Amino acid sequence: MLISQNFRTFAATLFAGLFISGCSHSLILTATNTPEAVFTVQTEGQRAVLRVVTRAAACPDVAWDGRDTQRMLQRAVPATPRLRQDSGQADNKPAVFDVLTCEATWAQGVAYADVVGQRIAAPKSEIRRIVIVADTGCRMKASENAFQACNDAAKWPFAQIAQSAAALKPDLVIHIGDMHYRESPCPTSNSGCANTEWGYGFAAWQADFFKPARPLLAAAPWVFVRGNHESCFRAGQGWFRFFDSQVWSEARSCNEPKNDMDADYTEPYEVQIGKDTQLVVFDSSKTSGKAFSQVDPTYGKYLTQLKKVETLAHQKMTIFFLSHHPLLAFAPAAQADQIKSGGNAGLVSVFGALFPQRLFPTGVSVAMHGHVHLFQAISFKSDHPASLVMGNSGSANEGFAPKNVPEGSVAIKNAVIANYAARSDYGFATLDRVESGSASDWLLTEYTTTGVPVIQCQISNGKSLCANI
Ligand SMILES: [Fe+2]
Repeated sequence: MLISQNFRTFAATLFAGLFISGCSHSLILTATNTPEAVFTVQTEGQRAVLRVVTRAAACPDVAWDGRDTQRMLQRAVPATPRLRQDSGQADNKPAVFDVLTCEATWAQGVAYADVVGQRIAAPKSEIRRIVIVADTGCRMKASENAFQACNDAAKWPFAQIAQSAAALKPDLVIHIGDMHYRESPCPTSNSGCANTEWGYGFAAWQADFFKPARPLLAAAPWVFVRGNHESCFRAGQGWFRFFDSQVWSEARSCNEPKNDMDADYTEPYEVQIGKDTQLVVFDSSKTSGKAFSQVDPTYGKYLTQLKKVETLAHQKMTIFFLSHHPLLAFAPAAQADQIKSGGNAGLVSVFGALFPQRLFPTGVSVAMHGHVHLFQAISFKSDHPASLVMGNSGSANEGFAPKNVPEGSVAIKNAVIANYAARSDYGFATLDRVESGSASDWLLTEYTTTGVPVIQCQISNGKSLCANI
């Protein structure tokens, strides 16, 4: 009886995995080559890189348009790097990466790729709908005694958000940082996060990101913006193995603290999302809540990188600037009638030195951020770009956004507010190109976790005008 049952289970599994319909070729899938993740990273210009995370011993083949087949390259092989001693958490353990990361640059002009039994549409050159998420992970952090109920889909809703966002069929997904939150073991008395994976190795990445994000990873290419949780001394090793836009190398892996002054500062780059619009991605992961002195090495790094942003910002008509930390935003408050400034003082000290009038280079029309676990859309009478904060995609809410900010209020220095909208619940956002408008005209929509639109903002010429739906 037992043998018979086992055989039926085996046969059913084999049958389900053997023949992949809709593909130009058949693949035999086994437990070891079923991938852990398949996704595309959109990088500089219009370059896109297909990535596969797998427990298989070798990288799979990818076939472009059903014809040209190539073996994917190894990006990062399985390893357990030496334990870093600089964790901010009392419990620390070696980060076990028992998976192989493979990659292949998307061939020019192809329509689709077949890899590990999946057919994936090629990235689009003209992006019309963007899904935006940030701060998605489930917080488990002993140093703050903060343990989110990762086992409760209502209290950690990233899986629901990923499903709702994928149903909107985006052309591109942007994650504005802080993907990994499971830094400490769940206390034994806490049922909300009981038996949850933790640490900086693959198991925690799988639970915190790859598993819940699966439908959204399959929906479109992603732009990944690095958050402070992906700093080298935290989850930086996984960041480089899986998500960084550049080639992986031991020097830029976060494995050795002596290389952090390089690995913690990714060069800014631009992503073309159409003939008239581009994103500029800025790695703010090592900024500080305090202003930098001008002799601080980070000040020098960011100043140089900001000059590069200025150069990039002159290349296209409409520029969306992406950094995890906001410069113009409000911090979560204990009550919704409180107004607390939340702009990152470290970035403001650098950006304000180079661009005292508007904090950003002239070409930047919209600045988009995460880090604050709220939704905020702020427009200014002054020349500052519209500031969007979208850090409410799963990690525990930390308080309220101010319900009302009177028109004419000053956010920081001379940034005079013209229009303000906010939401303190979980959700995500889309940006839709306005077909009849100019390159700067987009429609921002904020959704609940289940995909119900609740706020819409017209974005035009660096201003946002919002209304509740
Ligand atoms: Fe953050």
